[in-house]
Amino acid sequence: MNQGKIEKIIDDLSLEAKASLCSGRGAWNTKAIKEAGIPGILMTDGPHGVRKVREDIDDPGIKDSYEATCYPTASGLAASWNLKLLNEVGVALGQEARAMGVKILLGPGANIKRSPLGGRNFEYFSEDPYLSGKLAAAYIRGVQGQGVGTSLKHFVANNQEFRRMSVNAEISERALREIYLKSFEIAVKEASPWSLMCAYNRVNGSYCSEHHRLLTEILREEWGFEGIVISDWGAVNDRVAGLKAGLELEMPGSQGIRDQEIVEAVKNKELTEEVLDEAVRRLIKTIFKTENQESQATDKAQDSNYNELAYRAAAESMILLKNEDILPLANQDRIAVIGEMADNLRRQGQGSSYVKPAELDDFLESLKKNHSDTTEITYDKGYSLDYDRAETPGRDQDQDYYQLIKAAKDNAAEAEAAIVFAGLPEEFEAEGQDRADLKLPENQEALINEIASVQANTIVVLTNGAPVEIPWQDKVAAILEGYLGGQSAGRAIADIITGKVNPSGKLAETFPAALEDTPAYLNFPGEKDRVLYGEDIYVGYRYYDKKEIEPAYHFGHGLSYTDFAYDKINIDHVSENHNSSIEEHSNNDRVNQNMDELIAQVSFTLTNTGTRTGREIAQLYISAKDSQVRRPVKELKDFEKVKLEPGQSEKLKFAITAGDLSYYEPEIANWLTEPGNYQVLIGSSSRDIRLRAEIKLSDSITAGESTRPDFNQNSTIGDIHQDQDAWQILQAEISDKPELQQFISFEDKEADIGIPNFLEYLPLRNLITFTGGQFTGEDIKRIVNRLNQK
Ligand code: BGC
Repeated sequence: MNQGKIEKIIDDLSLEAKASLCSGRGAWNTKAIKEAGIPGILMTDGPHGVRKVREDIDDPGIKDSYEATCYPTASGLAASWNLKLLNEVGVALGQEARAMGVKILLGPGANIKRSPLGGRNFEYFSEDPYLSGKLAAAYIRGVQGQGVGTSLKHFVANNQEFRRMSVNAEISERALREIYLKSFEIAVKEASPWSLMCAYNRVNGSYCSEHHRLLTEILREEWGFEGIVISDWGAVNDRVAGLKAGLELEMPGSQGIRDQEIVEAVKNKELTEEVLDEAVRRLIKTIFKTENQESQATDKAQDSNYNELAYRAAAESMILLKNEDILPLANQDRIAVIGEMADNLRRQGQGSSYVKPAELDDFLESLKKNHSDTTEITYDKGYSLDYDRAETPGRDQDQDYYQLIKAAKDNAAEAEAAIVFAGLPEEFEAEGQDRADLKLPENQEALINEIASVQANTIVVLTNGAPVEIPWQDKVAAILEGYLGGQSAGRAIADIITGKVNPSGKLAETFPAALEDTPAYLNFPGEKDRVLYGEDIYVGYRYYDKKEIEPAYHFGHGLSYTDFAYDKINIDHVSENHNSSIEEHSNNDRVNQNMDELIAQVSFTLTNTGTRTGREIAQLYISAKDSQVRRPVKELKDFEKVKLEPGQSEKLKFAITAGDLSYYEPEIANWLTEPGNYQVLIGSSSRDIRLRAEIKLSDSITAGESTRPDFNQNSTIGDIHQDQDAWQILQAEISDKPELQQFISFEDKEADIGIPNFLEYLPLRNLITFTGGQFTGEDIKRIVNRLNQK
C-alpha cells in the first residue's frame, strides 16, 4: 500500500476509530475497520511452534490449541549454534503459521539468561548477547521470508518471573547496553522484525510499555526499527504515556476502556493527534504488510517434512557433557533403561509457549530400533514423577520410593550399561514462576547415586530447559543434556546414544557447580518490586571468568565422538593505521569512525582428527587486556559450526570490526573502542582456547560525534592531564603563575605533598581552596569553558 493511500485512510478515520486501532479485539486479533478497508489480523504464540488457540471451544485454555509442529525450545535450539538450522526452523514456522492464517508469530525471545533460576529460561537462547542476537536474527529472517511477521520479545530485561508485571530492574547503563539490549540490537539491525513486544517490567523506574528512551530513542532513532511495538499481554500501565513513548498496540484489548482514554487525552490536549496518527500510520502499514503474505514472501518454501526438521533440530540441540569412553553404545547384550522420564519425556516448558505436538515419538521404541533383536532392553520407572508434586506425601510415607529404586538397581546391575533419565518435572519450569533452586528432585538424585553404585557404565540423560546442579557427575560414565527437545526428542536421544548421530551441541549457558556460584545469586529475584542488577556486566561466563570460579560445565562446552585440531592461525590487520604499535599513538588522537569498520581478519585451520564425521563449533573471543575500564576477561564475538569428514580440514575466517573491540562508555553515551592491544582467542569452548593472536590498535574509535566527555569543575587534574590538548590549555591558563605551575606538576617531585595521588584525584574546583587565593570561581568557569571548546 502506498503512502498516499495510507494518509487518505488516516484522514478519513474518526478520532475514535483511530484510538480503537491501538488495542486488540480480544486476545489474539487486531480490530478490523471494514469501512476503511482495514482488516483485523491474527497473532499467536510462539516461539517454538504455532499455538493457534481453538476458537471452537468456549473458554480455551493454554493447551487447547490446534496441533502444530513442536520444535526444541530456545535453550536447545541455541545449543545447536547453527544459524542455518535456526533459519530453517523459522522458515518452517512461517509456512505453518501462514497455512493457519497467522499473520504475526509471537517470538523469538531474546532475553538474556541472567540467573539459571529464571522460570522462562527455556524460552530464551543464551547468557551471551551476541549468540542470542545472531540466533534470533536467523529465526526472524526465516519466519518473515514466508511473509509472516515476528514479534521479538520481551523488550527488555524480563529476566525473572517473580513479580514480572511490576518489578523494577535497576541496571547500569553499561550492563543495559552491553548485555541486555545488545541481543535485541543485533536482531533488530540484522533482521528487521515487523513487531517487537515490550516487556511487563520496569527498567530504571519506567514501565517498558511507556519507556520513551527504550521504545523511541534507542529502538527507532538509534537502531532504525520500523515495525510496531506490541505490549506483552497486560503490560500497559498508562495507555496515553505508552502511546507517547512509542507503544502502538495494546494486547489484549481492554474492551474499549483504554481507547476512550486516548480519545479524551486528545480532546483535552494532553496528547496531540499527530502522535496518535503516527501510531496509526505504523499500525496500518504493518497490518497491510502482513495481509499480503504471498507478496511479502521473499524466500522459497522448503519441503514440508516438519517432523524430520524437528528431529534434526533436536539432534543438534543436545550436548554431550561428559563421556568416559562409553558412548556411543554398540553391541550390548543387555541395556537397562531407567527413569519415568524415559517413558514420559519432557519436551517443552509450561506457559504461553506450549505447543500441542503434531506427532510424538518414543525413546524406548527408537532405542529398540537401533539395536539388533538380540539386545535385551529393560525398562524400570525408577521414580515417580507424581512424587514431586507438592500435594504428595513426604518420602517416608512414599511406599514406592524404595521399591522403585530397588527394582531399577537389580536390572542395572545385570546389564552392561544403564541409561538413567532424569530432569525437571513439568511444574518446575513454567512461565510465571522462577525455580527455587538448581536441584533435581530428590528421588531422581537418589536413583542416580544408587544406580551408579552398581553399574560403572551409567549414562545419564537430562531433560530440562535450564541448568541443574550435577553433584553426581564423577560417579557416572556419561551425561547427555537433552534439553526440551520437542516432538522428536526421543529419536534424537536414541540416535545420539547409539552413534547414529554424532552429538554436536554446545552449551549456550554455563552450568554452575552450585547455585551460590551464580552471578546474580545475591540479587535474584530481588524484593518487593525492586531488583538490583548488582553483578552488572558480569553475566554468565563473564562472571565465572572474572571470579575464577570453576563451573560444572563451561559456556561453549560440548563433546563429540570425533576430535578436532586447531592450527595455523594468521591475522591480517586491515588498516595500516591500526597496525602501528601502541607507543606511537597519542592518547587523544581520536578518530570518528563507524563500529562496522573492519580492523583485522583472522584465519585458522580446523581438522577432524578422529574417525567419525562430526561438527565442530569454533568460537572467537576478544580479550581487551589494555582497557582503562572494567572489561570481561573475554567476550564471544563470532562462531562457526562446520561439518568435517575424518581427516578433512577447512580454513575458517573471521572478520573483526571496531564494534567487536568496543565497550559502551556512559560518559560519552556511545560505544568506544580504545587504543591498545587486544587478544583474539579461538576456542572449542570458552575455557578451551586453542589459538591466540593479537591486534594492536593505535587510535580510538567511536560510533558517535565525540569520544571525549565534557570537562566540568569536578574533572580531576589527573583526567585533564590524560588529555594532551586539555593539559596544554590548563598550562596556558597558569603560564603567568610559576608557583601554580609547580603545584600542579606531575614531573616535579618537590611538589609531592606526601599524600599519594593527591594531584591525580584533585577536582579542578579545589584549585580555589588549595592555591592560596590564586583562583576564583570565575577562573574555574573560564577554564572549564576553554577546555570544552577544544
Ligand atoms: C507472555 C508472552 C506471550 C503472551 C501471549 C504473555 O503472558 O509473556 O510471551 O506471547 O502472553 O500469550
